[in-house]
Amino acid sequence: MGERCKVSWLYVLCVVLALVSVATIVTLWTIAITGGRGVDVTAPWDRDRLPGYLVPEFYNITLWPRLKPNPNSNLYIFTGWSAVQFECLEATDLILIHSNKLNYTEMQDEHFVKGVSVPNIKSTWLQLQTQYLVIQLMGKLTPGQKYQLHAQFTGELADDLAGFYRSEYKEDGVTKIVATSQMHPTNARKTFPCFDEPAMKAVFHITLIHPTGTIALSNGMEMENGTITIDGETLLQTTFEATEKMSTYLLAIIVSDYAHLSTTQGNIQIRIWARKKAIEEGQGNYALNVTGPILAFFQSYYNISYPLRKSDQIALPDFYFGAMENWGLVTYRETNLLYDPETSSNSNKETTVTIIAHELAHMWFGNLVTLRWWNEVWLNEGFASYVSYLGADYAEPDWNVKDLIVLDDVQKVFAVDALVSSHPLTSKEDSINLPGQIMEQFDTISYRKISLSYLQDNNVSLPRQVDAIMNRWVRQMGFPVVTIDTSTGIVSQNHFLLVPESNVTVESPYKYEWMIPVRWMKDGATKDIWWLLEKKGLNVDMRTGPSWVLANINVTGYYRVNYDLGNWERLFSQLNTDHQVIPLINRAQLVDDAFNLARAQLLSTTLALRTTSYLSKETEYMPWQSALNNLNYFNLMLDQTEVYEPMQEYIRKQVTPLFLYFRSITSNWTKVPEKHTDQYNQVNALSTACRTGLPECQNLIRMWFRQWMDDPEHNLIHPNLRSAVYCSAVAAGGEAEWNFTWSQLQDATVASEANKLMLALACSNNTQLLERYLEFTLDPAKIRKQDATAVITAVANNRAGQNLTWQFVTKNWEHMFTEYGVGSFSFASLISGVTARFSTPQELQQLLDFEEEHKDAGFGSAALAVDQALERTQANIKWVQRNKQEVLQWFRSQTGN
Ligand SMILES: *[C@@H]1O[C@H](CO)[C@@H](O)[C@H](O)[C@H]1NC(C)=O
Ligand SMILES: *[C@@H]1O[C@H](CO)[C@@H](O)[C@H](O)[C@H]1NC(C)=O
Ligand SMILES: *[C@@H]1O[C@H](CO)[C@@H](O)[C@H](O)[C@H]1NC(C)=O
Ligand SMILES: *[C@@H]1O[C@H](CO)[C@@H](O)[C@H](O)[C@H]1NC(C)=O
Ligand SMILES: *[C@@H]1O[C@H](CO)[C@@H](O)[C@H](O)[C@H]1NC(C)=O
Ligand SMILES: *[C@@H]1O[C@H](CO)[C@@H](O)[C@H](O)[C@H]1NC(C)=O
Ligand SMILES: *[C@@H]1O[C@H](CO)[C@@H](O)[C@H](O)[C@H]1NC(C)=O
Ligand SMILES: *[C@@H]1O[C@H](CO)[C@@H](O)[C@H](O)[C@H]1NC(C)=O
Ligand SMILES: *[C@@H]1O[C@H](CO)[C@@H](O)[C@H](O)[C@H]1NC(C)=O
Ligand SMILES: [Zn+2]
Repeated sequence: MGERCKVSWLYVLCVVLALVSVATIVTLWTIAITGGRGVDVTAPWDRDRLPGYLVPEFYNITLWPRLKPNPNSNLYIFTGWSAVQFECLEATDLILIHSNKLNYTEMQDEHFVKGVSVPNIKSTWLQLQTQYLVIQLMGKLTPGQKYQLHAQFTGELADDLAGFYRSEYKEDGVTKIVATSQMHPTNARKTFPCFDEPAMKAVFHITLIHPTGTIALSNGMEMENGTITIDGETLLQTTFEATEKMSTYLLAIIVSDYAHLSTTQGNIQIRIWARKKAIEEGQGNYALNVTGPILAFFQSYYNISYPLRKSDQIALPDFYFGAMENWGLVTYRETNLLYDPETSSNSNKETTVTIIAHELAHMWFGNLVTLRWWNEVWLNEGFASYVSYLGADYAEPDWNVKDLIVLDDVQKVFAVDALVSSHPLTSKEDSINLPGQIMEQFDTISYRKISLSYLQDNNVSLPRQVDAIMNRWVRQMGFPVVTIDTSTGIVSQNHFLLVPESNVTVESPYKYEWMIPVRWMKDGATKDIWWLLEKKGLNVDMRTGPSWVLANINVTGYYRVNYDLGNWERLFSQLNTDHQVIPLINRAQLVDDAFNLARAQLLSTTLALRTTSYLSKETEYMPWQSALNNLNYFNLMLDQTEVYEPMQEYIRKQVTPLFLYFRSITSNWTKVPEKHTDQYNQVNALSTACRTGLPECQNLIRMWFRQWMDDPEHNLIHPNLRSAVYCSAVAAGGEAEWNFTWSQLQDATVASEANKLMLALACSNNTQLLERYLEFTLDPAKIRKQDATAVITAVANNRAGQNLTWQFVTKNWEHMFTEYGVGSFSFASLISGVTARFSTPQELQQLLDFEEEHKDAGFGSAALAVDQALERTQANIKWVQRNKQEVLQWFRSQTGN
């Protein structure tokens, strides 16, 4: 599955998977811990897991979605007929099968269960809490025998983004309906009765009944379509080739009037589906161009041919996740699959190729070889995220996307994994049962945790005990900080915790010691790797005299590094004289390590800030992005205090040379920089210079935006710069600019353009406009449900929006939680987004009150996020108390105030 934003991941496996074959994949699978289930006295239908006595072989499913509401009830519905054949493994008088929100006809029918000498039915009912259809029999089913359950049912085709659901869009003024699906993780049971656990694989024979003029798609290829008349209405009936044996969560069914593009790669038929307009405008071309090469890359990487005959990918106007790897029919948010050369940025393009690579990687790893239970999600997602970089790099070799792993992944996982509320990659099978807990598995850690080194480079010798290394990275949470004291030569390791006072309550069998590959550099020359195992460490001769030592070269290891003060000073001196001697990735990492070590009180905050001094000479993207990410924390904590002005002034001073550099290499903003990462850094230069009040930048942006408002048909702002320009212009503007942006959003036909406009509207500094905008998130006609979380989080991120957003969320929490439900809001990102600025005792109290108030209803998939928000707020309060004065002094000293 693709995350909502950027994706990625993990080196752990790559040590092994560099040598990959499916055999290796299968053995790796067994690394994950199996959970034992204790003695349970509750009735089987009250338990969250299937007993496992019955296993499905195949399903025959016919579904008929109505693309018009029922005139009586006003509901959109679908009707279904299903048959599932299952084998009995142990004698039982109970059939338990998942079913949620389906209404059955003829539940008492004697033909409900078929097979040789089936006992009569004693009773049937729906167990709502655990989402089962329960059938109690008069006698027992026989082991080794096969039986069938035949059902006829109706369900609602709701706009809830879960199960078989409906998505709407307007084309030429006409509202169109798409019936589409999101079964993952536990919504197949909302579409037809099924054994809805990932290990319960079966073959699916799908038939769809749909209006003439529409097209039906599913995992298998369409085989035949005939017309059928039901109640006087002529309809199409499309039957699909049987699927491979697969999990229920990978099923997909879609009815639309979409258009498509197609090509072939070897024997594989590739199709890209989207709204007719989007296809006409060429928005599917890029996806079509890269899919073939990426499939070819993975076939050779896995050394297994693509397991299916066709590869469909489809862009949906309403979609909860970033994308979903349904086998043979991958579904995407429009922003993630479609790319419009006229209006999309290079960042949109990177997102598209990376997410396509991620989803296609799952066609083998995840779909062919599947997790047994959801505790193994990390293996599935982590691996797909990691190889997505390899696939994207193959499709776009000039971009160096592999370097960006450090920024996009490593640093992000570090941020979460340094908290005590983190978790090990593996968890016990029986600790995850409820749908909310299953959703919670799809977090940053699962997607991104990286350990060990990735062996792009054959020099790295790997200790024999791969398992012993892996366990230490995978079965304990967190990661180490390696401390190098160049005055004594002692190298040691400790569990890195962002909040040093925090109490680690989770016992680790490895006592929070890791096996760490240390590769280092001295006098500009790279040294070999060696392995650090114990806490107190070894004595390596790292005494250096006048020169510096730098460890974790190119950040191939998953750890932070600290040094004695003398070495830090020597590193600064190198950065300030000739920064290019230090590898690019490490320049970015020095900044990130220093800021985080300071957060953990292992280094002074002033010293961390000094890593940004040399930036006035830096033009590369990675160090800048790393610094801006870290300074953003200062913004969040301090931009409503007296530190704001001197901080703005300092950052403006540092970014001005970068702004002038880009003005110069783009010939006064008329050309696009050649390098992919330069294009990114140009955006940093503009947005940072404007935000910190550089007049030349603000005038430039005002002029560009004014030109567009004067002539709305011709937007001359370069796509790469649009996010930055729109946001700056809305922030500096008033209601006229806001209204203009809103009306452009209404007219936008390209999803990525709409997304930029949508986020820019949250940049206003007018609280009334922001309040109005927040209200829009509860009206799907204004803001699609899939986008509500992003809008609310963006407003919270705005200096002018924090308070109102918190009020808004607390006021509407119940409504969002119950009415919208898990399929619509990403509650975990909502909680972490709206509390990001929390840094006062009052805010902590508000959060505690909120937790208390909603304790009974629970927080669903946001439970962990609430704990993390509490932990983070407490840490923030302490941080502000400890650092505010020091930071104020330092910014003042740097700007001569
Ligand atoms: C299921 O569908 C397959 C293929 O269409 C067909 O051969 C089989 O008879 C069907 N079985 C049942 C139980 O409906
Ligand atoms: C299912 O039955 C319930 C209760 O009668 C009803 O409220 C609901 O609308 C029905 N759903 C569908 C899709 O018919
Ligand atoms: C359905 O059949 C018609 C007539 O044979 C054909 O033109 C059309 O392409 C088919 N549609 C699909 C989706 O297979
Ligand atoms: C797709 O490939 C064609 C042929 O190489 C090329 O002309 C076109 O510009 C590409 N489209 C995109 C959006 O990359
Ligand atoms: C850790 O535990 C100690 C002793 O029980 C307690 O005083 C301290 O407040 C705890 N720290 C945190 C951050 O909860
Ligand atoms: C570090 O990565 C860069 C590419 O970003 C590469 O050119 C360089 O050779 C790498 N250095 C080492 C020591 O691996
Ligand atoms: C750069 O462009 C701006 C705005 O278009 C213009 O006012 C200025 O004169 C240009 N500067 C140079 C050196 O061409
Ligand atoms: C909002 O922006 C305007 C225009 O830049 C400025 O005059 C005003 O002071 C700002 N208001 C706040 C509350 O920051
Ligand atoms: C902006 O739009 C709102 C709602 O349509 C309208 O009431 C308001 O007058 C508009 N403001 C401006 C400055 O155009
Ligand atoms: Zn995935």
